[in-house]
Amino acid sequence: MVSLIVGAQWGDEGKGKIVDLLSRDADIVARYQGGANAGHTLVIDGTKYVLHLIPSGILHSHVQCVIGNGVVIDPVALMEEISMLEQHGISMHGRLFISHRAHLIMPYHKLLDAAREKAASAKDAPTKRKHAIGTTGRGIGPAYIDKVSRTGIRIVDLLDRSRFIEKLRTNIREANMLLSQVYDGEELDADAIADEYCQFDTRIDPYITDTTLFLHEARRAGKRILLEGAQGAMLDVDHGTYPFVTSSNPTSGGASTGLGLPPTAISCILGVVKAYSTRVGNGPFPTELHDSIGEQLRSIGYEFGATTGRPRRCGWLDAFALRYSVIVNGITELAVTKIDVLDSFDEIKICTGYRLNGKLQRTMPADAEVLERVEPVYEVLRGWKTPLAGIRRYEDLPQEAQIFIARIEELSEARVRIISTSPDRADTIVRDGQ
Ligand code: IMP
Repeated sequence: MVSLIVGAQWGDEGKGKIVDLLSRDADIVARYQGGANAGHTLVIDGTKYVLHLIPSGILHSHVQCVIGNGVVIDPVALMEEISMLEQHGISMHGRLFISHRAHLIMPYHKLLDAAREKAASAKDAPTKRKHAIGTTGRGIGPAYIDKVSRTGIRIVDLLDRSRFIEKLRTNIREANMLLSQVYDGEELDADAIADEYCQFDTRIDPYITDTTLFLHEARRAGKRILLEGAQGAMLDVDHGTYPFVTSSNPTSGGASTGLGLPPTAISCILGVVKAYSTRVGNGPFPTELHDSIGEQLRSIGYEFGATTGRPRRCGWLDAFALRYSVIVNGITELAVTKIDVLDSFDEIKICTGYRLNGKLQRTMPADAEVLERVEPVYEVLRGWKTPLAGIRRYEDLPQEAQIFIARIEELSEARVRIISTSPDRADTIVRDGQ
């Protein structure tokens, strides 16, 4: 049985808690795209864990974790994460499996990421694009560029030292040309990087495997496999608010290519949606609030990036974008998170559509500049004005909150199966079948 958890908005939907919850009934948790740009925060028995690369299932001792071929791996970040978990007594041996096909993030990727962003923001830069994307600076875009242009360095290359050094030198030569001649920056020392990265082969070696085969055999053995998406559908390089997106496919299709699992293997796709919307970085965000309500959402929901600490932009729930996300991902069920953040509001708005030049839009505009100009159409619901934290049965939710959930279901055309009423693992409503 293979289930998939995807972010249905712009990331930061609270997937970590849902993955953690469902990991109890999983044998394997696998990540399929992105890299250390993701950040999952979990509080367990008073200890806070922030994971960027290793699936959060690692915190359950019975779970095996996979980092698939579609992930771009920063070995420095990976080693830090392994050490942090080991310091908390969590062993990785026999539990962490890294695809030999996954690409590596190298120091020049991070420098190029920063240089491109800086050039895009500088007023007089010759390479100025219209807008910086507001990336996490983790080298994600440049690493995927190398992958697609077939010059990337993969985990498997680490195992052949001379080939690794040869590829590294070629790539650094090219990166140095870009850094110094296009971006006016410092060049990198190829020898120092080769020395540093050559140490990773022995440290990563115990975890490297053919994860495609591993997952195939696990499926045949009837294991329960949970696939964990990072970021969200609206940040998908194909389906999101391009060019203000990440460089991978967080949508469900990415799970197949990023793990070597056929689409037909996936039987359930759970979309995670926050009861309101947030976005980090630049790009269109039709329901963004620039007023005190936006501020309230940010402070009550503690909306600051787990990876960069940046304040997140906040706004009302965008059910038009959610419906799009349901279609693109093939979401079969939804998990609504952080509903308790709305406890104190008199009125709660849901965006049901976009209007452009007075005309209601039928589909999600493909052009980011158009999306910047649409006017959200809102439906206004009454707030419940009472704390929801601790509620664990749907019937115990106030009527206003039940109406809010019912509207999400009607507008998105997906059933809400899980509702998270506080950050606590236990404060979760799980509804039975239809
Ligand atoms: P990159 O993935 O670092 O290239 O950043 C591209 C865009 O995706 C930026 O707007 C980031 O803020 C956003 N982004 C990347 N990872 C996450 C995430 O885990 N949560 C929310 N936004 C993200």
